[in-house]
Amino acid sequence: KQVALGIDIGGTNTKFGVVNHRGEVLEKGNLRTDEYEKVEDFIDALYEQVKPLIEKYGTETNFDGIGVGAPNANYYKGTIEQAPNLPWKGLVPFSELMNAKFNLPCTITNDANAAALGEMLFGAARGMKDFIMITLGTGVGSGIISNGSLIYGHDGFAGELGHTIVKPGGRKHWSTGSEGSLEAYASATGIAITAKKMRAEFPESMLSQYPEESINSKTVHECALKGDLIAIEVFRYTGQKLGEALANFVMFSSPEAILLFGGVIKAGDFILKPAKLHMERNLLPIFRNKVKLVFSELDEADAAILGASALVWEK
Ligand code: BGC
Ligand code: NA
Repeated sequence: KQVALGIDIGGTNTKFGVVNHRGEVLEKGNLRTDEYEKVEDFIDALYEQVKPLIEKYGTETNFDGIGVGAPNANYYKGTIEQAPNLPWKGLVPFSELMNAKFNLPCTITNDANAAALGEMLFGAARGMKDFIMITLGTGVGSGIISNGSLIYGHDGFAGELGHTIVKPGGRKHWSTGSEGSLEAYASATGIAITAKKMRAEFPESMLSQYPEESINSKTVHECALKGDLIAIEVFRYTGQKLGEALANFVMFSSPEAILLFGGVIKAGDFILKPAKLHMERNLLPIFRNKVKLVFSELDEADAAILGASALVWEK
């Protein structure tokens, strides 16, 4: 009994893998999250895809269990609650539903927490006891490791750094209604909003050559690589907002490193350099030039899958 199923639920895509104790992902698959209005339909579709894998590795009894990382997940209760970027509203008893369908124990934690665990066990944070994982995808998530453990807080939701405010009275969040959150600026969704605004203001930008609906962090990156100053400015501004937020986070928990993870980091130095500059600039001197700011080492999908599966054995 050495195999677990790790599942990483994102706002757009869900990725899963069969993982062994050594952190090897033996099988992988994925499905769209946003195509399932009802969580029961999502779980049915997931089951159909995963069943052949479970059969391939013998019977279900060969599996120790299922670990899940998901937005707004509650580790204590096994629930997903009012996730701003998921189709399923309200309180979803996710572990219970999974357990009923798969007949396997299911443990759930926040998706960014899972990525932090994966990185601590098998990636760039091996050997670190204090670090912060920031995931930049459809939303912005975080996992805060302090003294070797995830911070869960009083009711299991601790570490929602994507919803901390980086610009008081700033951009209204599309789902939560908060004003000026990090997620509203530094997520893929936020970057697309910034890019569309900049493109309207500066029609000479290469971004104008793309249809409105194809403006996203990928197309902005293409333009930035070709030297388009507006596209470069989109990332610079994003990096600035991220860096200002990171300075706050560093002063909160004094991490050895901050790991950045998720689709948005493909923009590389266009975001990393301004992020580093604005982080350092806003730190209290005692923290300056000490915190490593690095990209995740594990393949984008694997960190969270590995971390989620590790939950199974941790319990
Ligand atoms: C959610 C977090 C999640 C992040 C990334 C945020 O909107 O509140 O729980 O970790 O998105 O998926
Ligand atoms: Na978290």
